[in-house]
Amino acid sequence: MNSSRRSFVAKLWLALGGAALIEYAWLIREFLRPRSAKAEDEMLMIAGEVERFERGSVTAFPAGRFYLARLEDGGFMAFDRQCTHLGCTVPWHDEERQFVCPCHASSYDIRGEVLNPPAPRPLDLYAVRIENGIVKVDTRQPVRRQTFEPSQVARV
Ligand code: FES
Repeated sequence: MNSSRRSFVAKLWLALGGAALIEYAWLIREFLRPRSAKAEDEMLMIAGEVERFERGSVTAFPAGRFYLARLEDGGFMAFDRQCTHLGCTVPWHDEERQFVCPCHASSYDIRGEVLNPPAPRPLDLYAVRIENGIVKVDTRQPVRRQTFEPSQVARV
Protein backbone atom coordinates (compact mmCIF):
# COMPACT_ATOMS: atom_id res chain seq x y z
CA MET A 1 0.00 0.00 0.00
CA ASN A 2 1.54 3.30 -1.00
CA SER A 3 1.57 6.32 1.28
CA SER A 4 -1.24 8.24 -0.48
CA ARG A 5 -3.55 5.24 -0.23
CA ARG A 6 -2.58 4.79 3.42
CA SER A 7 -3.27 8.46 4.03
CA PHE A 8 -6.66 8.17 2.32
CA VAL A 9 -7.62 5.16 4.46
CA ALA A 10 -6.50 6.97 7.60
CA LYS A 11 -8.62 10.00 6.70
CA LEU A 12 -11.57 7.76 5.91
CA TRP A 13 -11.30 6.08 9.32
CA LEU A 14 -11.02 9.50 10.97
CA ALA A 15 -14.14 10.72 9.17
CA LEU A 16 -16.09 7.58 10.09
CA GLY A 17 -14.95 7.87 13.70
CA GLY A 18 -16.01 11.51 13.76
CA ALA A 19 -19.43 10.65 12.33
CA ALA A 20 -19.86 7.90 14.94
CA LEU A 21 -18.92 10.31 17.72
CA ILE A 22 -21.42 12.91 16.52
CA GLU A 23 -24.15 10.27 16.35
CA TYR A 24 -23.27 9.00 19.81
CA ALA A 25 -23.38 12.53 21.25
CA TRP A 26 -26.78 13.09 19.62
CA LEU A 27 -28.12 9.85 21.11
CA ILE A 28 -26.92 10.83 24.60
CA ARG A 29 -28.51 14.27 24.19
CA GLU A 30 -31.82 12.72 23.10
CA PHE A 31 -31.71 10.26 25.99
CA LEU A 32 -31.07 12.95 28.59
CA ARG A 33 -33.47 15.54 27.19
CA PRO A 34 -36.72 15.71 29.18
CA ARG A 35 -39.79 14.74 27.21
CA SER A 36 -42.41 17.40 26.92
CA ALA A 37 -45.97 16.71 27.96
CA LYS A 38 -46.99 17.40 24.39
CA ALA A 39 -44.71 14.67 23.06
CA GLU A 40 -46.17 12.23 25.57
CA ASP A 41 -49.72 13.13 24.54
CA GLU A 42 -48.83 12.58 20.91
CA MET A 43 -47.77 9.01 21.68
CA LEU A 44 -50.90 8.24 23.70
CA MET A 45 -53.33 6.62 21.28
CA ILE A 46 -57.01 6.76 22.04
CA ALA A 47 -58.34 3.29 21.28
CA GLY A 48 -61.97 4.03 22.11
CA GLU A 49 -64.64 3.60 24.74
CA VAL A 50 -64.43 0.55 26.97
CA GLU A 51 -67.82 -0.76 25.77
CA ARG A 52 -66.61 -0.81 22.18
CA PHE A 53 -64.43 -3.85 22.93
CA GLU A 54 -66.12 -7.20 23.55
CA ARG A 55 -64.72 -9.50 26.20
CA GLY A 56 -62.44 -12.10 24.65
CA SER A 57 -61.69 -9.95 21.60
CA VAL A 58 -58.53 -8.70 19.93
CA THR A 59 -58.55 -5.47 17.91
CA ALA A 60 -55.74 -4.46 15.58
CA PHE A 61 -54.54 -0.86 15.47
CA PRO A 62 -52.33 -0.81 12.38
CA ALA A 63 -51.49 2.90 12.72
CA GLY A 64 -50.21 2.33 16.25
CA ARG A 65 -48.63 -1.03 15.38
CA PHE A 66 -50.31 -2.77 18.30
CA TYR A 67 -53.16 -5.07 19.24
CA LEU A 68 -55.60 -4.34 21.99
CA ALA A 69 -56.90 -7.44 23.73
CA ARG A 70 -59.89 -7.42 26.03
CA LEU A 71 -59.70 -10.49 28.20
CA GLU A 72 -62.69 -12.55 29.28
CA ASP A 73 -62.55 -10.94 32.72
CA GLY A 74 -62.87 -7.47 31.17
CA GLY A 75 -59.23 -6.39 31.56
CA PHE A 76 -57.19 -4.84 28.76
CA MET A 77 -53.74 -5.56 27.40
CA ALA A 78 -51.93 -3.97 24.44
CA PHE A 79 -49.26 -5.89 22.53
CA ASP A 80 -46.57 -4.91 20.12
CA ARG A 81 -47.35 -6.78 16.93
CA GLN A 82 -43.78 -7.98 16.39
CA CYS A 83 -42.93 -11.60 17.07
CA THR A 84 -40.34 -11.92 19.84
CA HIS A 85 -38.42 -14.48 17.79
CA LEU A 86 -37.19 -12.46 14.80
CA GLY A 87 -39.67 -9.62 14.56
CA CYS A 88 -42.21 -10.71 11.96
CA THR A 89 -45.65 -9.14 12.26
CA VAL A 90 -47.91 -11.58 14.07
CA PRO A 91 -51.57 -11.69 13.02
CA TRP A 92 -54.42 -12.64 15.34
CA HIS A 93 -56.41 -15.72 14.23
CA ASP A 94 -59.82 -15.31 15.76
CA GLU A 95 -61.02 -18.83 14.90
CA GLU A 96 -57.97 -20.38 16.63
CA ARG A 97 -58.00 -17.82 19.45
CA GLN A 98 -54.27 -17.18 19.10
CA PHE A 99 -51.62 -15.07 17.43
CA VAL A 100 -49.71 -17.17 14.90
CA CYS A 101 -46.45 -15.99 13.41
CA PRO A 102 -46.25 -16.65 9.65
CA CYS A 103 -42.44 -16.90 9.70
CA HIS A 104 -41.60 -19.84 11.98
CA ALA A 105 -45.01 -20.74 13.46
CA SER A 106 -44.61 -19.36 16.97
CA SER A 107 -47.98 -18.81 18.56
CA TYR A 108 -49.25 -16.77 21.49
CA ASP A 109 -52.48 -16.76 23.47
CA ILE A 110 -54.77 -13.78 24.02
CA ARG A 111 -52.51 -12.59 26.88
CA GLY A 112 -49.51 -12.70 24.57
CA GLU A 113 -47.98 -15.74 26.25
CA VAL A 114 -46.03 -18.20 24.12
CA LEU A 115 -47.98 -21.32 23.22
CA ASN A 116 -45.54 -22.61 20.66
CA PRO A 117 -41.81 -21.75 20.27
CA PRO A 118 -39.34 -20.69 18.87
CA ALA A 119 -40.55 -17.36 20.32
CA PRO A 120 -38.41 -16.94 23.46
CA ARG A 121 -40.81 -14.76 25.44
CA PRO A 122 -44.32 -13.28 25.41
CA LEU A 123 -45.33 -10.45 23.10
CA ASP A 124 -44.04 -7.10 24.29
CA LEU A 125 -46.52 -4.85 26.05
CA TYR A 126 -47.64 -1.27 25.76
CA ALA A 127 -49.07 0.44 28.81
CA VAL A 128 -52.85 0.80 28.81
CA ARG A 129 -54.67 3.57 30.68
CA ILE A 130 -58.39 3.78 31.15
CA GLU A 131 -59.60 7.29 31.87
CA ASN A 132 -63.27 8.26 32.05
CA GLY A 133 -64.29 5.09 30.24
CA ILE A 134 -61.80 5.67 27.40
CA VAL A 135 -59.02 3.17 26.65
CA LYS A 136 -55.67 4.80 25.85
CA VAL A 137 -52.45 3.07 24.83
CA ASP A 138 -49.01 4.51 25.42
CA THR A 139 -47.08 3.54 22.28
CA ARG A 140 -43.79 5.19 23.18
CA GLN A 141 -41.87 2.08 24.15
CA PRO A 142 -42.86 -1.59 24.17
CA VAL A 143 -42.04 -3.34 27.42
CA ARG A 144 -40.30 -6.71 27.40
CA ARG A 145 -41.47 -9.35 29.85
CA GLN A 146 -40.65 -12.95 30.64
CA THR A 147 -44.10 -14.13 31.63
CA PHE A 148 -47.67 -13.02 32.14
CA GLU A 149 -48.47 -11.32 35.42
CA PRO A 150 -51.88 -10.05 36.54
CA SER A 151 -50.37 -6.59 37.11
CA GLN A 152 -49.94 -6.29 33.31
CA VAL A 153 -53.71 -6.11 32.85
CA ALA A 154 -55.38 -2.70 32.91
CA ARG A 155 -58.74 -2.74 34.64
CA VAL A 156 -61.76 -0.48 34.38
S1 FES B 1 -40.22 -14.51 13.58
FE1 FES B 1 -41.98 -15.34 14.50
S2 FES B 1 -41.48 -17.38 14.81
FE2 FES B 1 -39.72 -16.58 13.90
